[in-house]
Amino acid sequence: MPAFETNSEKLNGGSIARSAGLLLEGKLVAFPTETVYGLGANALNPDAVARIFVAKERPTYNPLIVHVADTLAAKALVLDWPEAADLLSEVFWPGALTLVLLKRGQVPDTVTGGGPTVALRVPSHPVAHALLRSAGIPIAAPSANRSGRLSPTTSDHVLRSLYGRIDLVLDGGPTSGGIESTVVSLVGGMPRLLRPGLIGSAEIEAVVGPIERMLPLHSNLDSAALLSPGMLDRHYAPRTPLELTADGPQRVEELGSQGLRVGWLRRSDTLEAVSESDRVIRVEMRRDAAGYAAQVYAELHALDARGVDRIVVDAVPETEEWLAVRDRLQRASVPE
Ligand code: TXA
Ligand code: MG
Repeated sequence: MPAFETNSEKLNGGSIARSAGLLLEGKLVAFPTETVYGLGANALNPDAVARIFVAKERPTYNPLIVHVADTLAAKALVLDWPEAADLLSEVFWPGALTLVLLKRGQVPDTVTGGGPTVALRVPSHPVAHALLRSAGIPIAAPSANRSGRLSPTTSDHVLRSLYGRIDLVLDGGPTSGGIESTVVSLVGGMPRLLRPGLIGSAEIEAVVGPIERMLPLHSNLDSAALLSPGMLDRHYAPRTPLELTADGPQRVEELGSQGLRVGWLRRSDTLEAVSESDRVIRVEMRRDAAGYAAQVYAELHALDARGVDRIVVDAVPETEEWLAVRDRLQRASVPE
């Protein structure tokens, strides 16, 4: 059974040392980062890493992000450190950018899905940082949720999803970023955006010049399907069926009249045509992309916990700033 470390102990040396000890024994420890909670294991221990896949029910071909304490530790795990890695790590590490590079032999195949590359990130969260320093090893950590589901932004979310499957959750309170890191590959020619995330592509381009995008700027389900069918897998999804719609008020009214209990992530510019009803739980979402990102998973977790029948989400702007949020909402809305 997982023990639970309280928030007040978050920087307590004892908690950190105990967590580091468990990691060194090959155990699984969930911990906060500035994006979402990660489920950590010693990245250099293939048996420990294999336990992550079992706990999450994650397909073994989906590789993990390796978290390291600093750039020096990152360099020790790769064959090649291109100039773009220098530029990007200098500006964005510690932080929510993950770089994909050619791995060295010591990185186990279980971490990389058998592939030749490894994804690396230096997290900025003080608890994650203290844990990395104390353990003195690279920590492989996907988001600490069952595969395909919402990422956790609190230790409660972690326990709801993984209780009994992990050894400890280190609590650091709610995470500030709210969605996952941006993943950029530096293998091959131009840097390539593999997953939009907290750090915007425009910010990255300001540092390294043009990057190749896997997703079209104005991505919608049809064009994304043409571009890369695999990217349409249901992911980042609440248990409750979720609909993304341009006309929230009408959809909420319709579902309500069918007798369904509806949770509505509402953007305040949607026209107000819905009557107050105890069948509808309205959630006011922040107007800015970063504020919305920080809030969205926590609100979806809360609606899941309240047991609504349907979640309706007002469409978000089609601009680049909203790319990561749009990506998560579109994947969450793919039917099961
Ligand atoms: O913010 C985050 O990135 C969080 C925190 C815990 O760091 N982690 C996270 O991990 O979101 P995960 O496993 O849920 O997502 C990692 C993503 C996946 O889309 C995976 O396919 C991709 O990174 N990835 C990992 N290693 C890769 C590699 N070698 N090449 C390409 N993609 C890779
Ligand atoms: Mg994940």
